[in-house]
Amino acid sequence: MTLADRTLVRFAELVGAAPDFAVRAPGRVNLIGEHTDYNDGFVLPAAIGLQSIVAVRRRPDSIVRMIAADFGDAVSAFDLAQPMARDPNQPWSDYIRGVATILQAEGVDLGGLDMLVAGDIPQGSGLSSSASLSVASGMAFGELFAPGRFDATGIALIAQRAECDFVGMRCGNMDQLASAHGTADHALLIDCRSLDVRPVALPTDTAILIVHSGISRGLVDGHYNERRAQCEAVARQLDGPALRDVMLGQLEAARADLDPVAYRRARHVVTENARTLAAADAMAAGDLAALGELMAASHASMRDDFEITLPAIDQLVAELQAAIGPRGGARMTGGGFGGAVVALVAADAVETAVAHIEARYRTPEGNKPLIMVERAHAGATFL
Ligand code: GLA
Repeated sequence: MTLADRTLVRFAELVGAAPDFAVRAPGRVNLIGEHTDYNDGFVLPAAIGLQSIVAVRRRPDSIVRMIAADFGDAVSAFDLAQPMARDPNQPWSDYIRGVATILQAEGVDLGGLDMLVAGDIPQGSGLSSSASLSVASGMAFGELFAPGRFDATGIALIAQRAECDFVGMRCGNMDQLASAHGTADHALLIDCRSLDVRPVALPTDTAILIVHSGISRGLVDGHYNERRAQCEAVARQLDGPALRDVMLGQLEAARADLDPVAYRRARHVVTENARTLAAADAMAAGDLAALGELMAASHASMRDDFEITLPAIDQLVAELQAAIGPRGGARMTGGGFGGAVVALVAADAVETAVAHIEARYRTPEGNKPLIMVERAHAGATFL
């Protein structure tokens, strides 16, 4: 049985009636363009096969009752007629509480429902389990209580605000836009300022390889918000509305006036934007060697300038790069401080790369890492 089928069956068992409908929203893997989204820059993610699913059924009252299949059917509930609060015992529910709060602030008149949540995205892996849950629940609420009002971008932005304003992780818009707009066999070149989303075909006969380092990270733990604040401070100092507007020459000219750490943070973002645009071109041209060099430079910049990698992640990326050679590229993906690394690699080099990693990398617990051979999938849909 697929995850979707299991979720529908489990819903009926737990709620005592079939759901009105279910929504699936994918996770994403970012191929390049890290920590650029909240700087109004460019990103190049792809939606993946791992996903969150929510099944919903309207209730006649104002209670939203959420059940998490992956946490032993843990229940969290709130009354729409009462002020919203977080649930410290069931933090997964805060993403849904956040989405409901933002929709209410947008004037949507929500009603009660039962919701079963399930998913297969490893948490803390940098593959956007939280964004996919927010997008799925946003689509479910939207369909029931504001049909036709929000398009894919509209739902993505509601989901992002839920995470920023309610959960307190001041994320950009990449993860939610990627989950909402995913396109089979394509990466998405997203302009995070204009919100333009352009699918770029992945080179033929390639695979996306995702290796979980086995180190999970909590994004709300402060490093992320600190990096974002540092970027915003440099942008203000350079009179740009955002680092998107800062050219490398301008940054170099201002170097003497900048705090050395702030300078390196900004240099990562400014160069990463350029690498992301170049990577989209290389991808469209099917140039795996050029893509590999850009991904390697991206990783080095995250390691040396943005300082969001860890020694074990650097080692894993170096092993992958050694195994792949010029037939693709590898880098850490996502917010950093743990999580997964991604490789885009010629399909006939996958087996060797997997064998190499299984022989050479162990998680901190001493286990073989979780390795996923993925391709780009479609975005969020109703089931
Ligand atoms: C997390 C955030 C995104 C983005 C990435 C880093 O995934 O949710 O908005 O900033 O980190 O690129």
